[in-house]
Amino acid sequence: MIERKILLGEKDIPRYWYNILPELATPMAPPLNPGTQKPIDPSDLSAIFPMALIEQEMSPQKEIPIPEELMDIYSLWRPTPMFRALNLEKALDTPAKIYYKYEGVSPPGSHKPNTAVAQAYYNKKAGIKRLATETGAGQWGSALSFACSFFGMECKVYMVKVSYQQKPYRRSMMEVWGSTVVPSPSTDTQAGRNILARDPDSLGSLGIAISEAVEDAATHEGTNYSLGSVLNHVLLHQTIVGLESKKQLEIAGVKPNVIIGCCGGGSNYGGFMLPFVRDKMAGEDIRFVAVEPTACPTFTKGEFRYDFGDTAQMTPLMKMYTLGHDFVPAGIHAGGLRYHGDAPLLSHLVKEGIVEGAAYHQNPVFESAILFAKTEGIIPAPEAAHAIMAAVEEARKCKEEGVEKVIAFNLSGHGYFDLAAYDAYLANKLEDYEHPGEKIKEALSRLPLIDSY
Ligand SMILES: Cc1ncc(COP(=O)(O)O)c(C=O)c1O
Repeated sequence: MIERKILLGEKDIPRYWYNILPELATPMAPPLNPGTQKPIDPSDLSAIFPMALIEQEMSPQKEIPIPEELMDIYSLWRPTPMFRALNLEKALDTPAKIYYKYEGVSPPGSHKPNTAVAQAYYNKKAGIKRLATETGAGQWGSALSFACSFFGMECKVYMVKVSYQQKPYRRSMMEVWGSTVVPSPSTDTQAGRNILARDPDSLGSLGIAISEAVEDAATHEGTNYSLGSVLNHVLLHQTIVGLESKKQLEIAGVKPNVIIGCCGGGSNYGGFMLPFVRDKMAGEDIRFVAVEPTACPTFTKGEFRYDFGDTAQMTPLMKMYTLGHDFVPAGIHAGGLRYHGDAPLLSHLVKEGIVEGAAYHQNPVFESAILFAKTEGIIPAPEAAHAIMAAVEEARKCKEEGVEKVIAFNLSGHGYFDLAAYDAYLANKLEDYEHPGEKIKEALSRLPLIDSY
């Protein structure tokens, strides 16, 4: 009998995070101070981040030990299971072997708490009492709310307005864990008020919500800012996913040929794939595929250049694939994939030709999600369904070509708070959007031109 589940015990939870920075063949371009356009100094970040996280952002150490107190909290849901998708393989009649790592078993329902608890821990140790953050789909906001409640900290969440309207129960969840949640753009910050003055009906975007949360942290005593994706230290914390997955695939006795994940700011995919990049560098034949929506085609249509992480231009300039920081995406249902940029680390790997991008429309993505729900049972988050669609396409290609590849993808979260999106799909009400090339050119023409790094 072929085993469906590859399970690890609590003693197998990795005791360190994997830092790829010292192993990169070429170094990443440094983040720049937006005022001087010179590489930032750690002290530039200390107004909104604790020093321990700033050090992790730039660390030369390959393995960073996970503190004991965090191991204890991780053991609430880690290690997470890896499944062989036997039913999906059968439905597709494919010779491919499909494996998925399931991060939806965490209390908030996604991979996001892997970094949320780490960020709350280091902030608490630095004497911080309150965190401010943004959330798109509500997954990150609920993860940080969960983490703050564990560490007895306050949490203020700026939730992108379209998701605030589409996902009332994600807001309830954050409130259960004790957070204050407002729809963004809000009247609580100058950045929000400026946007509302220009466009009172703004649906919001992650870029706008980040501006609000950064401003909140900079203007409130004892408050820091916490980001759920994009930055090196966030991807670092998420490598716990990939480190477990490596052990699980070894136990299954297979080597992955294609490693797939959905990509919003890059944290679940980065965390899943980074520990496998070593194997590729050592000569293994592995393709890495980062999947995004055609409505927010950062890797497939964006440009690799310096841009701000937020709409109000408050963050450092980061070299990344971007659609322009004032990009406001269409109201697609994968709220967590509607960010204008992408992690500088993943962007670097795309530029180096190690990772490739793929973009899909939301209707076929939901079609794949439903095939998955009917075969494997789990109703996936719309974001994670992008990874499923790529895995299904790969498995169909294997059938056409008669090859038996091993496909592994990260199922970053469940979709039990996304049923309004499934309703809309089943009622044929979902529209497909393609973000026009001219709009990207226009938005990029407003960026500072920096080519010295
Ligand atoms: C379930 C899920 N997957 C993926 C993402 C995308 O974020 P990231 O690319 O940082 O993993 C989100 C973001 O909210 C999410 O909720």
